[in-house]
Amino acid sequence: MSKPFYITTPIYYVNARPHLGHAYTTIVADIVSRFHSMRQVKTFFLTGTDEHGDKILRAAKKENLSPRNYVDKISGLFKTLWPELNIKYDCFIRTTDTSHIAIVEQVMQKIYDSGDIHFSKYKGLYCFGCERFYTERELVNGKCPDHETEPEPIEESNYFFKMSRYQDWLIDHIKINPDFITPERYKNEVLSFLKEPLEDLCISRPKKRLKWGITLPFDKDYVTYVWFDALLNYVSALGYPDGILFKTFWPVVQHIVGKDILKPHGIYWPIILKAAGIPVYKQLHVHGYWNIDQTKMSKSIGNVVEPLQLKNVYGLDTFRFFLMRDMVFGLDSNFSEMALVQRINSDLANDLGNLFSRVLTMVHKYFSGVVPQIDTRMEEEFRLGLKSDALQAIKTYEKNMEVFAFHKALMAIWEFISHMNKYIDLTTPWVLAKKKSSRKQLEVVIYNLLESLRIISGLIYPIMPETAETMQKHLGMDPKKPFYHLDSLKTWKTLIPGTNLPKSITLFPRIDLKNGDTSLSGIKGQSSEPVAIKPEITLDTLNKVDLRVATVVHAETMPRAKKLLKLEVDLGKKRTIVAGISANYTPEDLVGKQVIVVANLKPAKLMGILSQGMLLAAVDENGCTVATLDKKVKPGTILS
Ligand code: MSP
Repeated sequence: MSKPFYITTPIYYVNARPHLGHAYTTIVADIVSRFHSMRQVKTFFLTGTDEHGDKILRAAKKENLSPRNYVDKISGLFKTLWPELNIKYDCFIRTTDTSHIAIVEQVMQKIYDSGDIHFSKYKGLYCFGCERFYTERELVNGKCPDHETEPEPIEESNYFFKMSRYQDWLIDHIKINPDFITPERYKNEVLSFLKEPLEDLCISRPKKRLKWGITLPFDKDYVTYVWFDALLNYVSALGYPDGILFKTFWPVVQHIVGKDILKPHGIYWPIILKAAGIPVYKQLHVHGYWNIDQTKMSKSIGNVVEPLQLKNVYGLDTFRFFLMRDMVFGLDSNFSEMALVQRINSDLANDLGNLFSRVLTMVHKYFSGVVPQIDTRMEEEFRLGLKSDALQAIKTYEKNMEVFAFHKALMAIWEFISHMNKYIDLTTPWVLAKKKSSRKQLEVVIYNLLESLRIISGLIYPIMPETAETMQKHLGMDPKKPFYHLDSLKTWKTLIPGTNLPKSITLFPRIDLKNGDTSLSGIKGQSSEPVAIKPEITLDTLNKVDLRVATVVHAETMPRAKKLLKLEVDLGKKRTIVAGISANYTPEDLVGKQVIVVANLKPAKLMGILSQGMLLAAVDENGCTVATLDKKVKPGTILS
């Protein structure tokens, strides 16, 4: 077995609910971890939450909760979201875990004893948003570049970590290990920070100002939080220094972070490790931002996109695919629902989906759904390079997955899909099927196509695990055997002739767009904060909205969109409405209920179903509550 593999995400602050940006990093980690399991490597995947500091304390106060109750609540949101996105982490660490706290104390004491931490007075400009001091030259027009607020002058005595001692060592380390920070632009950014002398890092807060942190082992009047506390999660989760996990997975660790936290991970972290006598991490992979209308997604701007909403409307695998296909790892990308829909329709529904159903339909039409026998003498002649194309695709895929170039890995699969389509055009199975004499050729052609689909199902596994499993089932593979091991993908001819295959299904339903419709479900930029009152309208405008009472006569779940319900409602006449409410309602809850419907909303297709109206519902952090009336009225009654 090859070397073990350890992957981490940043631990997320619990001052906000998880959004698309957090989901992207965590999905990348999941994909990379699954990719390494394709190589049968022992993997460990860590994520978690960062729970100490001013920011968290202020967020707790705002919600009238104790810090403990508040961090439990938000951390819980992250922890339960990840499985919903099919993210299989091995450990979820919280910086409030007692085991983590003990290790932070131990490492800090060690560094303190070695003389790298000292106490002194400090006067500086402090940004509460970033929880750090800024130097004048780091500010833009006197303001914090991230929060665009003026930092506040603060003077206090604190503990400082002397980073400059390790500056030359770090520069050398980065130069000797060219892949230490990737992509290269971020390595260069770190090297350029390191051209200036490193200032001492303030690592404490007096307890009289902040209690929500970890008490310093060498001074009970001070706490530490942020960076020293947070970064050490990567070793504390493994049970540093004696845990078996630590011995197995450190230091082969690879960290994934967004570019916002490059400096702490590219500079503070290797220096903390060096000072503590812990081997330095193997690699740091840095990605760009998902922006909305070219602006970074943020809670304060109110343009956050909620990953679960996307999953509910468009399906999970399509969403995971889109994130990997549309963002070049390392660069920023602009999120738009329209781009997502276009990807689903072209790459997934048209290319992969069509090919899959085309081949399976032929198996059913020409071979009654049974994997054909093949005549080995004809095999070579009728392969027409398909096997070598497959091997080439696997090679290019592996090379790109290795270096986080997910978009290129996917392009390699799609190139192979296009080769398969050409293969069908060249071999014309429908012509071969007409003559008895070409039966053997038809068998070889169909078998080769099934084999190629098997390889595709394995290659898409890390990115679209559910779809990969559906394909696997439809190709008659043994569900107990992992179908995605690269070794088996590289071995041609593993499908067993004579196996009965289930009927073909639609892997990815097309999403129909009405002419000029760019707003779609309106997920883009929805705020999770209370929204400001909208601008005034006249009665005339209000009267344009046709609000009606409707009785739900039938409700059912939608197999490809787990969080949508298809409702049949009666508002004088019957209508179909697709509503994203199944997280809070079962079909049985709704049948017989009277709901309020916007009856004159332009119909729109959602997951292939024409939705003719919209239910009114209140949406808050607990999900949605459908608006109802307090007594029954005639269906179709107008609300005024
Ligand atoms: N708690 C620190 C990290 C400590 S790690 C030892 C922190 N938390 S955070 O909640 O602010 O998360 C930041 C991370 O979330 C980014 O590094 C990135 O992984 C992800 N993203 C947050 N917004 C993002 C985008 N708009 N786009 C892409 N990813 C972003 O910093």
